[in-house]
Amino acid sequence: MKINKEINRRRTFGIVSHPDAGKTTLTEKLLLFGGAIQEAGAVKNNKIKKTATSDFMEIERQRGISVATSVLGFEYKTIKINILDTPGHKDFAEDTFRTLTAVDSVIVVIDVAKGVEEQTEKLVKVCRMRNIPIIVFINKMDREGKDAFELLDEIEQKLGLHVTPLSFPIGMGYDFKGIYNIWEKNVNLFTGDPKKDIEDTVQVNDLSTDEIDELIGTDSADTLREELELVQGVYPEFNIDEYKRGELQPVFFGSALNNFGVRELLDCFIEIAPPPRPKQSDIREIRPEEDKFTGFVFKIHANMDPRHRDRLAFVKVVSGKFERNKPYLHVRSNKNLKFSSPNAFFAERKEVVDEMFPGDIVGLHDTGTFKIGDTLTEGEILQYKGIPNFSPEHFRYINNADPMKSKQLNKGIEQLMDEGVAQLFTLELNNRKIIGTVGALQYEVIQYRLEHEYGAKCSYENINVHKACWIEPKDPKSEEFKEFKRVKAKFLAHDKSDQLVFLADSEFSLQMTQQKYPNIIFHFTSEF
Ligand code: G4P
Repeated sequence: MKINKEINRRRTFGIVSHPDAGKTTLTEKLLLFGGAIQEAGAVKNNKIKKTATSDFMEIERQRGISVATSVLGFEYKTIKINILDTPGHKDFAEDTFRTLTAVDSVIVVIDVAKGVEEQTEKLVKVCRMRNIPIIVFINKMDREGKDAFELLDEIEQKLGLHVTPLSFPIGMGYDFKGIYNIWEKNVNLFTGDPKKDIEDTVQVNDLSTDEIDELIGTDSADTLREELELVQGVYPEFNIDEYKRGELQPVFFGSALNNFGVRELLDCFIEIAPPPRPKQSDIREIRPEEDKFTGFVFKIHANMDPRHRDRLAFVKVVSGKFERNKPYLHVRSNKNLKFSSPNAFFAERKEVVDEMFPGDIVGLHDTGTFKIGDTLTEGEILQYKGIPNFSPEHFRYINNADPMKSKQLNKGIEQLMDEGVAQLFTLELNNRKIIGTVGALQYEVIQYRLEHEYGAKCSYENINVHKACWIEPKDPKSEEFKEFKRVKAKFLAHDKSDQLVFLADSEFSLQMTQQKYPNIIFHFTSEF
């Protein structure tokens, strides 16, 4: 069957890391291997420079680049690879969380000198919650960094992973000689030449002979033998099923900048990383090889040109075949929609395509119909789960600064929230609107975009909120819940889907409230 063949040759994944660990560089080298780009430097760095966080041009530049790099598709050997962009900047963490619902596996990049950093911890936690298979790539081996064993320990402890190295470095920094590939049982010698390819790989069948001594010197060879013995003694043997269940994480070492250790990573990746996986909906699990198309929106991107307010919705194909001009049910609105120019994404361009398979990302032009999390089907009423909102970290009242433009303001706020730029809460008491965001930068983005795309002006006012919790009473009719609603009226609001939210003003008051109302569940994500 054609569909099975197409499914089996697809690998859709994300690269996650703390900013500066080398995600962009690694992405670029992977694209070079796929022949998708011709030279280094072709993938623009889409991170916001630290010095320019309040520069609007920088925000716009970022948005422009992030369209181009949202999905990078290319072929390597016979495999169709889709890399989904996951911004490392913490103010865009929510974007990354949502994108992680559309990947089938991830590669985590760690800087050998800095070790496990904050954003990596957060993102890996989300991957673990979903049992996403993870491969770890320890980058910048050409620099002095932490000892390999120390780093592996740190990864296990801070990230809660269960690792096993599939390659092992021979020295590091100034003394970096290369990598022993445990997976392929060969040595790759480091020359520091980014153009270097596979030619320098030397097959080493038996580490006990002096074949290896001749290659790297006796001292290094002895150290390597000892270290590999330790690896064997301490770490479990690689098991692909455990990896696919998210229980075991293979580790590779390399230097993305020098294009070193990247081919090994990629070759192993296409062999072990899972093709598109089944996905849970609210009624049943959907398998990719099912006849009928289903998919969901995980990202919406507004047009850069304010005169055309159409947007691009990114849909992950979960099952069946997506076809151009075929009507699909938009489940939330119960309407049939047809798409005459669905886009597929390649390294530096997008193209209109006739059909797409599970694992692929389709870009659909949208004039305001889609919301993040929406499901498309061939008629079945179902909703994909797994795109929850997390409590924002910043909260501010939003006020209308131009009374003549209140309609524009409301429309703008609604659409920006559908895009997932921030979360809107409406206070129960007086209907005032509160915008909650992950980073402070979003307030400037919202203000700027409301003005330039919707012609509306807003101002913000501080409000003391520590955390938003979604409220679920065990018994909505209980006296306890009624009392909670009365006593805490000032702190209650509704989110965009009208779920009740408690806006706690401090960690202390949150704990006190939880203790006082034991039959009310306080959820920290919107999906429960
Ligand atoms: P990010 O997307 O994860 O934020 O990281 P990015 O690839 O932009 O890499 C961050 C910095 O680390 C870049 O240097 C990059 O050249 C460097 N880098 C990446 N891989 C390696 C490696 O294997 N070895 C060494 N030594 N450096 C590496 P930069 O100076 O910040 O940027 P640029 O001016 O070189 O672009």
